[in-house]
Amino acid sequence: MMSAQPLASPTSGLLLQAFDAIAAAGGDPQAVALKRLAYLRQQIETDPLPFFAELRAYRPILVTPLAAIVAQFRGVEEILHRETEFSVQWYVPHMTGVIGPFILSLDVTQAYDHDKAAMQLVVRREDLGRIQAITAQVAGAAVEAAADDDDLVWAHIQEALRFQPVNPLVIRILTEDYLLGAGTPHATTLPKGLLVFAGAWSAMFDDQVTAAPEDFDVTRPASSYLHFAAGQHACFGRCISQVQVTQILKPLLKLKGLTAAAPPVYAGTFPDQLLVGLAG
Ligand code: HEM
Repeated sequence: MMSAQPLASPTSGLLLQAFDAIAAAGGDPQAVALKRLAYLRQQIETDPLPFFAELRAYRPILVTPLAAIVAQFRGVEEILHRETEFSVQWYVPHMTGVIGPFILSLDVTQAYDHDKAAMQLVVRREDLGRIQAITAQVAGAAVEAAADDDDLVWAHIQEALRFQPVNPLVIRILTEDYLLGAGTPHATTLPKGLLVFAGAWSAMFDDQVTAAPEDFDVTRPASSYLHFAAGQHACFGRCISQVQVTQILKPLLKLKGLTAAAPPVYAGTFPDQLLVGLAG
């Protein structure tokens, strides 16, 4: 005999019902809040896309006492462009341990402007061609030289990354009370001090912005992607990454039977190694 399954309601999906059930069961408020956060984390670490779909549909701005998670493209974009209200201070302890003091953990102050200006002097757009050539030479020598359509290779890479991004969430802390999504049905005032997860991965599956998001489509406009975040803190190395990652992967992708030999290895926050092999 089949066991009865809970039904999705018009205001919630099954995964959100399970999330709500944690609070409904009651108990010590702090323990309940931690359990709810653990549930969110588990969804994101195991099979996030169905959960993100429920969030976008029913709770685009989901607030708990410990943190909020924002799931639609427009909400994520708003957070990333409001760097005064959504501070990057959360990164200070988390990044300092990995790479020392880093511009991404500085709010937009004189110190930030100073570091960014220094980077702009050193990292010059006109060097991109040389970076591309050096990376092509090194990566090509390591595997097998390949000369193909770089733009098309990059289009495949960024579309593949949409399904499995390096940065699924961008993290901020609110410096003041803030009305997110003003003028929309889900407008929500978030309190000062709240930890906010801007769901970049979820946002890239938002069908209000991205047509047929479940399809693998390499013709999407660049504005569909949030791999490098957005706003003042958008990745400074994005143009370099585009040419480097393309040149590194191009020869590898030509190999028949290429497989991941093991899950990626992380150095702290950052992915460091991915061992690959050849099947057969
Ligand atoms: C595929 C590779 C890369 C990815 C996916 C990536 C992703 C990101 C993301 C998502 C952010 C913004 C985080 C936030 O707003 O909280 C960021 C910031 C940053 N990235 Fe990258 N990055 C990559 C490679 C690089 C490289 C190669 C460099 C240096 C050459 C670099 C330098 C930076 C810097 C300096 C910032 C901070 C910018 C600021 O705070 O104004 N990144 N990156």
